[in-house]
Amino acid sequence: MLLVEGLRKTYRDKGRVVEAVKGISFSAKEGEVFALLGPNGAGKSTTIKSILGLVIPDEGRIKVGGIDVLKHRKRALRMMSAVLEGNRNVHWRMTVIENMKYFGAIRGLSGRFLKSRIRNLIDRFGLSEHVKKLAGQLSRGYQQKLAVAISLLPDTPVLLLDEPTLGLDVESSREMRKIIRDIASEGKLVLLSSHDMNLVEAVSDRVMIINKGKVVAMDKTENLKEMFRRRAYKIVLEKKPTPSLLEKLKSFAKISENGEKVTLDVEFESSSSIYDLFEILKEERVPIKSIESEDIDFEEVFIKIVRGERS
Ligand SMILES: Nc1ncnc2c1ncn2[C@@H]1O[C@H](COP(=O)(O)OP(=O)(O)OP(=O)(O)O)[C@@H](O)[C@H]1O
Ligand SMILES: [Mg+2]
Repeated sequence: MLLVEGLRKTYRDKGRVVEAVKGISFSAKEGEVFALLGPNGAGKSTTIKSILGLVIPDEGRIKVGGIDVLKHRKRALRMMSAVLEGNRNVHWRMTVIENMKYFGAIRGLSGRFLKSRIRNLIDRFGLSEHVKKLAGQLSRGYQQKLAVAISLLPDTPVLLLDEPTLGLDVESSREMRKIIRDIASEGKLVLLSSHDMNLVEAVSDRVMIINKGKVVAMDKTENLKEMFRRRAYKIVLEKKPTPSLLEKLKSFAKISENGEKVTLDVEFESSSSIYDLFEILKEERVPIKSIESEDIDFEEVFIKIVRGERS
């Protein structure tokens, strides 16, 4: 459905040259949530704007439903809808219903079709009590819902959402996650960008991690998590081991000493290797005071990948 090949974009801004995107390629299909995950300045928005034809790339090819965006922008745009940063698809001084009518008309919708579409989306997004309110007076959560509702008016197969939960409170963010999943389950492709690992982990089927304009990793979200799902343990020893034992332990763990208290921070590929460590401790009968285990979360996975620590 969506094909991006060798995308490059360099901005020239008052003598400053910024290589925002340095050769990004990926493809995504209908029915999936595909996430662009990356820190600030990674090139996410530039990628999304290029797909929409709002930014003209220096190099690369973008196809939506087989249509070349650079050559046939108008035709390609009929297949896409988007909510960009700052909700530019909402007019703050218009009411909710005015916004829906206005942007529906812009997308070429009219008459009974537009009316029923608006009614459906207003119901679906719980906006019915707010139809007469100015968009600018809605809460941030409702503004974002309105923006997404507007983007769904034309019923396009591809929806692009740039940072869909930015600035939302926990409750609205949770609702937005459900909305995103629901849209994909209707068979649409949702391409979203975010720097929020938790959002990406919760909603995306596949993720492309980008940093400084380059793809660092791309896989099913589940696989990326699995790749780094080692168990991490914090082991506190009852007494200080001998220097020779400490030396042995160094190959297993990060050791921190605080007087007599020795703490081992260990990460294992598999939980069975912890028994090897126990064997070593047994040599000197070092008693263990406590063991805590924790799953490495997606945020750490992300940081590791971005820092290039995947091994
Ligand atoms: N119009 C522009 N002119 C000059 N530089 C730009 C322009 N737009 C983006 N950049 C620069 O290009 C790089 C990538 O920006 P982009 O907005 O694509 O990143 P992003 O991943 O969306 O970041 P964020 O998480 O902050 O939204 C950044 O260094 C940014 O400062
Ligand atoms: Mg951005």
